Amino acid sequence: MTFCVAGLQKFADPTFFDRSNPAGIYAQMVGAERSSPLHPLLGHLLAVSTLVGVLIALGELAVGIGTLLGLFSRIAAAGGALISLSLFLTVSWSASPYYTGADIAFFFAWLPLVLAGAGGVWSLDGVIRNRTRAERDRPSLTPVVVPFGLVQRICGNYEAGRCAARRGAPCSPGPCPFLHQNSSPPSVDGELTRRQLVRSSAAALGAAMAGMIAAGAAAGIGRVLGRAAPSTPGATLPPVTRSTGRSATTTSTTPRDAGGTTPPGSAIGPATEVPLGSWAAFTDPTSGDPSLVIHLSDGRFVAYDAVCPHAGCTVGYSPSERLIVCPCHGSEFDPSSGAVVQGPATRGLRRFQVTEGTNGQLYVEE
Ligand code: FES
Repeated sequence: MTFCVAGLQKFADPTFFDRSNPAGIYAQMVGAERSSPLHPLLGHLLAVSTLVGVLIALGELAVGIGTLLGLFSRIAAAGGALISLSLFLTVSWSASPYYTGADIAFFFAWLPLVLAGAGGVWSLDGVIRNRTRAERDRPSLTPVVVPFGLVQRICGNYEAGRCAARRGAPCSPGPCPFLHQNSSPPSVDGELTRRQLVRSSAAALGAAMAGMIAAGAAAGIGRVLGRAAPSTPGATLPPVTRSTGRSATTTSTTPRDAGGTTPPGSAIGPATEVPLGSWAAFTDPTSGDPSLVIHLSDGRFVAYDAVCPHAGCTVGYSPSERLIVCPCHGSEFDPSSGAVVQGPATRGLRRFQVTEGTNGQLYVEE
């Protein structure tokens, strides 16, 4: 059920596939790339992040439906294990504390189902298998045409009460062993018969169509109702320039105010780019981390390193909720202080000092 909900949530969230939105799959992959052991692979996949997001959502939906119905149970469980392992190696790799990264627990929870399957009870796999076996064991009512000459040769071939078709055993009433042997269907024990496979595939097709309809409905509802825009930034500020302080010894191209002085730190862009109540993204020139500056409703500017201290995803600001939120596991932070409002993060965001220069530029320093 968790996988069904996770897949549908992604389709219902208009921001998830938006490359420019820090709550989207692209921003999550960028955040994961910083610490994941799969970072070379993630670097290549960034170019097709939307496709990756669609495949993850469809994969979660397929795994959830297959597992709930008990249809192709082992394959569904193997898919679930693969998705869980991938998430563990990316968005949960540097989770802190480590036990808040639940994906590794999901991975091990899938393994019994991978090894044992659904066990034949309460599952479509079991229903289809049992029905197929019952049909095989049911006596066939279909007439079998046997040439009379053949019947004469087989059934007339006895001597002294011993039947040649029975390998010399005494003749007795009962099914003709020759006809029985030549009309029995192949065994189905231990593996899917062709009929089972056809039936299971037809059921999977029906389930896939139901899943696509549910995904389409979720996407439509999500776009109609909208979602608290956690993260649409007012602007992405231009690359920063640096200043070493108020002295004029800086070698940067930081614009100076009329008095020839600049606030200490790095200029991140004009304050007018961040209207009251909105926010903007910039890159911390020291660490290279994605960062955000928020223009609070009381008029103050605040800025933070946007790398979530839980597992490294990129946080964004939700003007409607007045919270900084993490798209990966839902941590929330107070925009006025960066402190944790809701976990799993246990540490607040790294904060910058923000100064607005008389030249209209915003400057940040640690
Ligand atoms: S990375 Fe897990 S809550 Fe942010």
